[in-house]
Amino acid sequence: MTDAVLAVANLSKQFGGLQALRDVSFTVAAGEILGLIGPNGAGKTTLFNTLVGIHKVSAGSIRLEGREIAGRKPHRIAALGLTKTFQNVALFMDMSVLDNVLVGALLRQDLRSARVTAAACLDRVGLGAVLHKRAGDLSFPERARVELARALATGPRVILLDEVMAALNAVEMDAIMGLIRSLRADGLTIIVVEHHMRAIMTLCDRIVVLNFGQKIAEGSPAAIARDPQVVRAYLGREYQA
Ligand SMILES: Nc1ncnc2c1ncn2[C@@H]1O[C@H](COP(=O)(O)OP(=O)(O)OP(=O)(O)O)[C@@H](O)[C@H]1O
Ligand SMILES: [Mg+2]
Repeated sequence: MTDAVLAVANLSKQFGGLQALRDVSFTVAAGEILGLIGPNGAGKTTLFNTLVGIHKVSAGSIRLEGREIAGRKPHRIAALGLTKTFQNVALFMDMSVLDNVLVGALLRQDLRSARVTAAACLDRVGLGAVLHKRAGDLSFPERARVELARALATGPRVILLDEVMAALNAVEMDAIMGLIRSLRADGLTIIVVEHHMRAIMTLCDRIVVLNFGQKIAEGSPAAIARDPQVVRAYLGREYQA
């Protein structure tokens, strides 16, 4: 367990009377692509927001490369190498593509080098040609790539992707999956939240399943696809075919 890049132990999160996460534990190894699935409202986004410090931890531990990060501020956690994209892409639509990504790069760098980093990250996601476009003028697949570039610009070790493929068709989805695999090949560790099962099953090395804020299963895509509890809680009969 000590070679885990991220180790989450007995993590709980309450919103008033609502227990959004209960005693969630899992680890992610270096270079792994971990899938996180579960029904709407299961707590996936809450888990991401708690990991990166947007939500305060109610109880439990989060270790990033062996260091406890629970209770730290989001910018500190990002500077330590853990960052996320936002469900329902949250770009600054009136700003240029480059400036959107600059926001991420400025976390660690002065303006001059942040510009270079932002441009390199946009190049990395295939958007080198649209740096100066207004973000609001981009297509949905391009916006998803800007989200990725913005996360990359913070210089992460671990990146949490919250439904980056949500609005994409099959071809666009395959292109983003190729990009995610290439980020892993560059040494990143990745957790992917996605409702699209084909994407999750083909992309992920391992899958964790949440239901009502609790982990109900963990295993290989093949094992998860036939786990009776997961089928009952989430997959239904569709993925069994
Ligand atoms: N800031 C908040 N304050 C109060 N309750 C919240 C807050 N954020 C999330 N919740 C609640 O926590 C639970 C988990 O929500 P969450 O958004 O994490 O689910 P999810 O698994 O990401 O769902 P989806 O697949 O629809 O994105 C839900 O009951 C939700 O209403
Ligand atoms: Mg969510």
